[in-house]
Amino acid sequence: MINVGVLGATGAVGQRFVELLADHPWFNLTTLAASERSANKPYEKVVNWRLDTPFPEKIAKLKVTPTSPKGMKDVDLVFSALPAEIATDVESEFADAGIAVCSNASSHRMEPDIPLVVPEVNPDHLGLIDVQRDKGRDGFIVTNPNCSTIVMVMALAPLSKFRFTDVRVATMQAISGAGFAGVAAMAIYDNVIPYIGKEEEKMETETLKIMGALKGKKVINAPFSVSASCHRVPVIDGHTMAIWVDINKPVDELKKAYTTYKPLIKGLPTQPEKSVLYLEENDRPQPRLDRMRGKGMTVSVGRLREGVRFVAMGHNTIRGAAGASVLNAELISKKKYL
Ligand SMILES: NC(=O)c1ccc[n+]([C@@H]2O[C@H](COP(=O)([O-])OP(=O)(O)OC[C@H]3O[C@@H](n4cnc5c(N)ncnc54)[C@H](OP(=O)(O)O)[C@@H]3O)[C@@H](O)[C@H]2O)c1
Repeated sequence: MINVGVLGATGAVGQRFVELLADHPWFNLTTLAASERSANKPYEKVVNWRLDTPFPEKIAKLKVTPTSPKGMKDVDLVFSALPAEIATDVESEFADAGIAVCSNASSHRMEPDIPLVVPEVNPDHLGLIDVQRDKGRDGFIVTNPNCSTIVMVMALAPLSKFRFTDVRVATMQAISGAGFAGVAAMAIYDNVIPYIGKEEEKMETETLKIMGALKGKKVINAPFSVSASCHRVPVIDGHTMAIWVDINKPVDELKKAYTTYKPLIKGLPTQPEKSVLYLEENDRPQPRLDRMRGKGMTVSVGRLREGVRFVAMGHNTIRGAAGASVLNAELISKKKYL
């Protein structure tokens, strides 16, 4: 078993990490860290458990530690669910201290030496870990994409064998994507907010890095452009998006690409049986009905039609955050980087 910790363990994404790691077959959750406000108190006293799954009693009495590598001598890997402005320095400090970091935060995603990974799509990008080590770092940082980017990348992956140059996307994003205190009920109830800070830029840049090619010590961006329009809607969990791609192929051939899709990896504990599922019903996918497919790790796709247009949907705090990071850690472990 590999000893792991969670940074930001009391937050929205941090709680998802705790839920996914409490009974993990490869990882032993030994350490929970948060801000000074929560440090040195039992986890059960400082966390406001808001998930609809039972609170994992076995870690209830675990004392929350301050967020510093000094107190985490027995930990091999930490999952970071820190706010981006805190993550920038803290994650580097952990990596420099010899600890592997799997991060959800946006701080390091676009740095050339840091892998931005979706295991089913670009597992080879973990090769950038060697580039970090060659520069003298004992540990390393691996990131997963923004929650809307990952849903789109998974939905595009089965189509990547076809040539395209232009991707357009309009998102309908859940309020949990903004964290507990993110969007006031009075602002979102009976409403749509047509702006999510930095979200469109993240979809437009991260997608090209993930779907790009690792050549030697760097990633060459994928040769297409992405144009995104992002919107917050009154849904609790599950980001839905309408996607247009300029592929000149019959719809039946594209549907076949979905039904025959084989991810580039298999056999990781958090990987669902189907990473991408095509739904034939003309009113699917829907967040309430489809977000928990594959325990929240399956991205559902439907309504593929001439244009080429289709709809994709995935769980933003599981596939789009904590689950994505745990899957990355499983790949790191399988590839013996720890
Ligand atoms: N929500 C999503 O769907 C989603 C999806 C993808 C990525 N992300 C990213 O994941 C990260 C966490 O988001 P979230 O929604 O979980 O945030 P959140 O609910 O606000 O939680 C923040 C966590 O960070 C801790 N923290 C705050 N300031 C700290 C400090 N100075 N030192 C140490 N710990 C500190 C908090 O601890 P205390 O409780 O002690 O204050 C808490 O555990 C962000 O970078 C976000 O952009 C979120």
